[in-house]
Amino acid sequence: GKLEELKSLAYHENASTLIFGVDLTPAQAREIERVTGLKVLDRTQLILDIFALHAKTPEAQAQVELAQLRYLLPRLVGKGKEMSRLGGGIGTRGPGETKLEVDRRRLQDRIAHLSRKLQDYALRRQEARQKRKRRGVPLVAVVGYTNAGKTTLLNALSRPAEGQAVLAENKLFATLDPTTRRISRPDPAGGPPQTLLLTDTVGFIRHMPEELLTAFRATLEEVREADVLVHVLDASEEGALERHRVVRDLLLDLGVEAPVVLALNKADRAAPYDLYFLGERLGGVPVSALKGTGLKELKEALARALLDLGVRPQAWAQYT
Ligand code: GTP
Repeated sequence: GKLEELKSLAYHENASTLIFGVDLTPAQAREIERVTGLKVLDRTQLILDIFALHAKTPEAQAQVELAQLRYLLPRLVGKGKEMSRLGGGIGTRGPGETKLEVDRRRLQDRIAHLSRKLQDYALRRQEARQKRKRRGVPLVAVVGYTNAGKTTLLNALSRPAEGQAVLAENKLFATLDPTTRRISRPDPAGGPPQTLLLTDTVGFIRHMPEELLTAFRATLEEVREADVLVHVLDASEEGALERHRVVRDLLLDLGVEAPVVLALNKADRAAPYDLYFLGERLGGVPVSALKGTGLKELKEALARALLDLGVRPQAWAQYT
């Protein structure tokens, strides 16, 4: 009865698509589509679609496409006798082969091609990481729930040169490509400037779809390799504590052990009591990436965390 209800609601609202906030099995999606005659998207498909819109670099595009295809494959359906295979034989695409089989094979070929491409990217990343390690430049990764302000903070901390600003938008998942910046500051002792690398990562979300975690493995590797993490939390958000937990749990799942410096972001917008409460519960440095407040304190906390690891500011200096 519920589906009939949905169908009539969609009719009255003039809706052509049903979006579900949960994941559907291929059979469920098919059945709902059949009964309602409407296009059906589940949670993972919606998230993948948003990611696809925002993927900018070839690597991110390949990652999202791979995730989409992997999700699509078991959802490709044919009816009754279309499923039967007449053409048989290894490696043949005989005349008896059905459209569904051809589609499926094309998808599999594309999946294999994308996987190889991503392996190449992963290899290149690994080489870059090794080079960085040999040079001893510390790497700091910025993590956080989507829309917490990671990109804005990265911009604020690194103040990139003209025309180099990293895209910061009030859109979910605006960041799909890790963007690495160099932060330098003058050595208080008058030596060469101290440098560290700061890298932006993909935004986390509650119940990150498995397909995405797999697809973004290379990007997330960067998080695992970081010496220190800056966890950006939107302190003005009502569910800040819950979001903090989601990110922390995901980091645990990824096996990340690096020390974390918490930035209580959007302090300009957060209620003073909430900020106080979060500070008491979680610690952390109140900042406003947008207004540029608290950045000095955050950099100091970062420097302390690096120092605790034995990364001396003097050591950064050699590699500017
Ligand atoms: P994803 O790429 O989606 O994971 O987002 P992100 O965490 O990189 O967030 P981004 O930096 O794109 O910022 C999201 C929105 O929050 C933008 O509209 C920013 O202008 C806004 N924002 C970021 N920092 C602050 C802040 O300190 N104060 C206020 N008021 N808004 C902020």
